[in-house]
Amino acid sequence: MSNTAEIKFNGNTYELPVTTGSENEQAIDISKLRAESGLITLDPGFKNTGSTKSAITFLDGEQGILRYRGYSIEDLADKSSFLEVAYLLIYGELPDTETFTNFKNRISKHTFVHEDIKKILDGFPSKAHPMGVLSSLVCSLTAFYPGSLAPNRSEDDIDLSIIRLLAKLPTFTAWAYKNKIGHPVIYPDNKLDYCSNFMKMMYGLPGNEYEVDPVVASALDKLLILHADHEQNCSTSTVRIVGSSQASLYSSISAGINALWGPLHGGANQAVIEMLEAIKEDGGDTTKFLNKAKDKNDPFRLMGFGHRVYKNFDPRAKIIKKAADDVLAKLGVNDPVLDIAKGLEEAALKDDYFVERKLYPNVDFYSGIIYRAMGIPTEMFTVMFALGRLPGWIAQWKEMRDNNEPIGRPRQVYVGAEQRDYTDISKR
Ligand code: ACO
Repeated sequence: MSNTAEIKFNGNTYELPVTTGSENEQAIDISKLRAESGLITLDPGFKNTGSTKSAITFLDGEQGILRYRGYSIEDLADKSSFLEVAYLLIYGELPDTETFTNFKNRISKHTFVHEDIKKILDGFPSKAHPMGVLSSLVCSLTAFYPGSLAPNRSEDDIDLSIIRLLAKLPTFTAWAYKNKIGHPVIYPDNKLDYCSNFMKMMYGLPGNEYEVDPVVASALDKLLILHADHEQNCSTSTVRIVGSSQASLYSSISAGINALWGPLHGGANQAVIEMLEAIKEDGGDTTKFLNKAKDKNDPFRLMGFGHRVYKNFDPRAKIIKKAADDVLAKLGVNDPVLDIAKGLEEAALKDDYFVERKLYPNVDFYSGIIYRAMGIPTEMFTVMFALGRLPGWIAQWKEMRDNNEPIGRPRQVYVGAEQRDYTDISKR
C-alpha cells in the first residue's frame, strides 16, 4: 500500500506522506503543503480533518464501534466502574487493586471545596442555567489554586489538579442544582462511592438521612462510563485547543463545559425531553413532528437523532436503551413521554428520509429519559453529561500536553472586501 499521496496543482506535483493509525485509519499529512505550494485545505466544521494523533479512544462510526484505550464500551459498561474507566482514560491502563484504591482515596480526600466558593455560588440568581454556574465554578479553581496557572508545573502538580477536578466536579454539579432550587448545599460524604456521594449531595437535605437507591446509583455509574470520552468532538477539541495555548487545566475544562452546553452537542439531551414534552402537549402525533423534521423549510430537527460520526447505530445508545428499560422497570416509572420516544424511534427507523441519511438515535435520545426517571431535572441533563465527560477531557488535555502539541491555530480563506481607502464619516 502506498504511503504517499499526490496533489497536482498549477502543473506541479506535491508528494504528501500518508499516516496510518493502529486500526488502519489513513490520513494525508498536509502540514507541509502550504510551505511547499502556498495551498491550504478548506474543511468547515473539520468534518474531514484529523487534528491530532490520539491513543485514547477509537471510534468507527460506520460500524458502530467505540473503544477506550482498546477496551470495548460494551465490556466497560458491563464490567467496570466510572472511576476505573476514568483511571484507564487518563493514565492509559486499567489499575491494579492497590493503585485503584490509592486513586479512589486521593479523590475522596479532595471532594470538599473552599468555603468561599459558596459566596460565588450565592452570587448567581436561581434562574441561572447550571451549565453556566458549573463552568464558572470550575474556572474559579484558578483563583483558589493560582499555582495551576504556571505552564511549567511538575507532573505531580498536574496530577494533583487532575485529582482535585475529578473530586470536586460532583460537588460543584450538585451545588449548581441546589442553587437552582434554592436549597442549602450538602457537603460531600467521603464514606460513599463517587455516584452515591453525588446523589446524596443532590437530593439530601441538612439534618435528614438520605438513602441512596443502589439501582439508581449503578445506572448513573453506567451513564457516566458511556459519556466518558468520544475522541475529537466539539467540547474535547475545545479543551485541547484552549490547553494548547498553555492555559491551565481548570480553564481548559471550563471552556469544554461551555462548548458542551449547545443543543447540537451535549445540550441535546435537554432538547430531546423538551421536544418529547412539546409533542405530548400537542396531542402526541409523532407523524406530524416526523414530517416537520423532514421539511427543509421548517427549522425543526428531531433532537437525539443523527450524529457527525455515527452513520450506524450509536453503540452507546444501544446500552443506554437497555439501561433505561431496566431503570424504569425497577423504579416502576410509567412515563408517557417514554411511549412517545419509542413511537418516534420506531417510525423514524422505518422512514426513508432517516434511513437514507443514516440518522439513528444517538446517546442523548435515551440518556434524558433515564435522568428524568432518576428525578434529575431537565436543566441538569447537560451538567450530568459534563460530569461523565470530565475524565475524557482530562485525558485529552494531558495527551496534548505530554505530546508537546503546537498551539491550535487554523487558517482561513478570506472572502471579505479587498483593500479600500478610509473615508471620513462626514463623507459617507
Ligand atoms: N432531524 C432531521 N434531519 C436531520 C437531523 C435531525 N436530527 N440530523 C441531520 N439531519 C439531516 C440534515 O438536514 C441533512 O439533510 P440534507 O442532506 O438533506 O441537507 C443531513 O441529515 C445531514 O445532516 P448534517 O446536519 O449535515 O449532519 P452533521 O454531521 O453536520 O450534524 C448533528 C450532526 C449536529 C448531530 C445533527 O444530526 C443534528 O442536528 N442532530 C440533532 C441534535 C442532536 O441530537 N445532537 C446530539 C449529537 S450527539 C452528541 O453531541 C453527544
